Amino acid sequence: TGHITIDDGYGNTGSTQSAITFLDGEKGILRYRGYPIEQLAVNCDFLDVAHLLIFGELPTAKQSEDFRRMTLRHTMIHEEMRAFYGGFPREAHPMAILSSVVSALSTFYQDSLDPNDPRQVEVSIYRLLAKLPTIAAYSYKKSIGQPFVYPQNDLSYSQNFLQMMFATPCEPYEVDPDAVAALNLLLIVHADHEQNCSTSTVRMVGSSNANLFASISAGISALWGPLHGGANEACVLMLERILEEGGDVKKFVNMAKDKKSNFRLMGFGHRVYKNYDPRCIIIKKACDKVLSKLKIRDPLFDVAKELEEVALNDPYFIERKLYPNVDFYSGVIYRALGIPVQMFTVLFAMGRLPGWIAHWVEMHKNPNKRICRPRQIYTGPAERPFKQPE
Ligand code: CMC
Repeated sequence: TGHITIDDGYGNTGSTQSAITFLDGEKGILRYRGYPIEQLAVNCDFLDVAHLLIFGELPTAKQSEDFRRMTLRHTMIHEEMRAFYGGFPREAHPMAILSSVVSALSTFYQDSLDPNDPRQVEVSIYRLLAKLPTIAAYSYKKSIGQPFVYPQNDLSYSQNFLQMMFATPCEPYEVDPDAVAALNLLLIVHADHEQNCSTSTVRMVGSSNANLFASISAGISALWGPLHGGANEACVLMLERILEEGGDVKKFVNMAKDKKSNFRLMGFGHRVYKNYDPRCIIIKKACDKVLSKLKIRDPLFDVAKELEEVALNDPYFIERKLYPNVDFYSGVIYRALGIPVQMFTVLFAMGRLPGWIAHWVEMHKNPNKRICRPRQIYTGPAERPFKQPE
């Protein structure tokens, strides 16, 4: 079997070639298909970035319109899927609902499960992009006991989501264009990040020729963990705790340095970025803009900035090259939009969806594709004869 080298957490193992996202961790560079993230974030609609990631090019005006039309045909979810929501407990975490309902898409759409049929794959891509915001917003409505609000296809992706979250049958929801722009920016900034844990999961599951819905559902589960996408929720809970305990950021920085405490600064550190996370810079700037446009003063933003400053001047964080990451400031914007903390990682999933799809599609196009099957070095007992324990 040859020599096997163990690489814990795959820190130095290349799993694939990829033409989707370029990331330079030393220089803090992130590009989708060659375009700097900073430029995409302020110039594009999220669905156009999805097109870029999945098909390789930004769409022309006509392609953009066609892509939008094809996607929007699928925004409603099957009426019978509502029964699922009735079965979940009210306090269920929306990430658990999201992965379950996405997995259940493969029970309702059995006509688009074949990973080797390009037409079926295309339909399942439209279905996922269209339905994820609906599934997500329904999970929130369920948690607060409000009726579901149907998607409205004349709205933009982000506007439609906010509408489904916050409208009620008794009152139309006035969607603030600044809120829509902020959400659009956040979705774009989250849209891909090469071979991260959830994307590698989507590829891993897809490598067995599992269908796209099943693969994406697995990616959602991987994203939920607090070391990955779940960090945005954990970060805001941490900032709230700092405030509640009197705002002493130094105490928390010291706790994060203490290995015995098992506490880490959430939204800090990254496997690849060793200089800064370019997404964090974009989001921090957007925080300033959104808060001032929406005329909100959030003490959590002040605590976050103070925490960043103290940590970045501390030798522990300097030596280890730990910087705030994408999850550090995003929660400030979500809060300003009125999004409850349990939904933060769901929004990360909505943003990351095109990236997951792009990687799944790219993997299937690879002529050398094989099932992912890492090796191990066995360290258990040597052979021993069967003996019934007494
Ligand atoms: N607070 C305190 N110490 C930290 C932190 C942190 N947030 N992150 C890393 N360290 C320390 C770690 O203890 C280790 O110290 P030592 O060398 O003394 O043992 C050193 O820095 C290297 O850390 P690591 O755990 O080996 O690094 P990793 O590449 O395996 O993990 C990470 C990366 C992002 C999981 C980690 O930095 C972390 O747990 N951060 C907090 C959770 C978080 O914000 N996750 C979001 C990541 S970005 C977006 C996403 O992927 O969703």
